[in-house]
Amino acid sequence: MTLSTKHVLLIIAGGIAAFKSLELIRLLRARGCAVTCVLTKAGAEFVTPLSLQALSENRVYADLFSLTDESEMGHIQLSRSADLVVVAPASADLLAKMAGGHADDLASTVLLATDKPVLAAPAMNVRMWLHPATQANVATLAKRGVHFVGPDEGAMACHEYGPGRLSEPPMILAAIEALLDPGRRPLAGRHALVTSGPTHEPIDPVRYIANRSSGRQGHAIAAALAELGARVTLVSGPVAMPDPPGVAIRRIETAAEMLAACQNALPADIAVFAAAVADWRVANATDRKIKKTPDGSAPGLSLVANPDILATLARPGPERPGLVIGFAAETNDVAENATAKRLRKGCDWIVANDVSPETGIMGGVENAVLLVTAGGIETWPRLAKEEVAKRLAARIAEALQETPHPGPLPQGEREKKSPLPLRARAAEQTEVGGGVRPPGSENTAP
Ligand SMILES: Cc1cc2nc3c(=O)[nH]c(=O)nc-3n(C[C@H](O)[C@H](O)[C@H](O)COP(=O)(O)O)c2cc1C
Repeated sequence: MTLSTKHVLLIIAGGIAAFKSLELIRLLRARGCAVTCVLTKAGAEFVTPLSLQALSENRVYADLFSLTDESEMGHIQLSRSADLVVVAPASADLLAKMAGGHADDLASTVLLATDKPVLAAPAMNVRMWLHPATQANVATLAKRGVHFVGPDEGAMACHEYGPGRLSEPPMILAAIEALLDPGRRPLAGRHALVTSGPTHEPIDPVRYIANRSSGRQGHAIAAALAELGARVTLVSGPVAMPDPPGVAIRRIETAAEMLAACQNALPADIAVFAAAVADWRVANATDRKIKKTPDGSAPGLSLVANPDILATLARPGPERPGLVIGFAAETNDVAENATAKRLRKGCDWIVANDVSPETGIMGGVENAVLLVTAGGIETWPRLAKEEVAKRLAARIAEALQETPHPGPLPQGEREKKSPLPLRARAAEQTEVGGGVRPPGSENTAP
């Protein structure tokens, strides 16, 4: 989205997360959005006016009683000059002032005087966030129409864990875009292919090999991409999850059927392979139920490797989706294994998670992932799988924003005309040694 006609007034309060406001300014400026910063006295302990000024390419305001500021701009004009007022980070203190109608510094005065929509991104220690006073203030503000993004849950600078982390700048940006242009959805016109759930590999007509994948993560990703406007084809193994709204479902059972359904769904701009595809199928599966033998001996099953769906669809060529994302379910050395897998498979990003039984992730409702890209490894906090999906969708939208919109190109032409930026592509990758894959590690997300 271009925000080139828009103007954001960004209020930065005193919190450890204030440094992330610098990245938010960069993202807004990259979209052509004008940014004017207001810094609280405490905020200036964490980021300097000089950094804000350099990144926003605009004057930074901090003092309510500056004669020059009042003659040039004035706090009332400042409060109304923007299309949207964003408070990021919003400290517990500033939220309390907003709820109480205080106006004892420039930030709180601007917030009381503004007639524009306000978006707050809270950030504070988990106890401060969960305190009934803060919760009551947030409820009051939400009732008055203040919009909120976050906070996220995760490890905090104060070595505690829980809700209170500032939302990541791309998420705040997505919330800003949604408020400034509610009708617009950043993935409109894009086609996303998502796989989800386990595969079932038959032994005979009544028995099969399966795994513990619930499909919750893949289904949530399909829903999150659809919410951002993408046309989504969800290729799903057998799951008990309800169908995500607004998504075209292709139901399959085996890995071979999943590969065929994915290939049939091309071309796609985005492909997210979250399914837990069985690495092997039974070579000698029978058409008739295998009977118990009188002597009690067990039948011998011989296994054969399934097609590698991620590697097949990530292979360079005109049909390759613009952004290919694989999942890695690991039980040890998660970062190392995921980094190697990204290169080995030729995909752009890997979402890696630790599925050791003690994490409760496989089949559970939460996920703690690493996002591995050509640019490095990001550690995301443990979040509900729906939140992981929303974050991933926001990151995908951000990556595709930097590429020209593909438009209605004929099949096969898109990849040639719409290359992703370097950081989102694996074009520079080289194959690394095959290595030995742990059982069940193929393309798997819980
Ligand atoms: C090192 C340090 C980190 C802090 N981090 C936070 C924070 O993340 N969130 C918060 O609400 N307050 C935090 N505080 C407290 C605020 O800075 C303090 O409440 C201040 O009065 C907020 O002022 P403001 O709301 O005008 O910006 C922190 C204080 C210190 C000294």
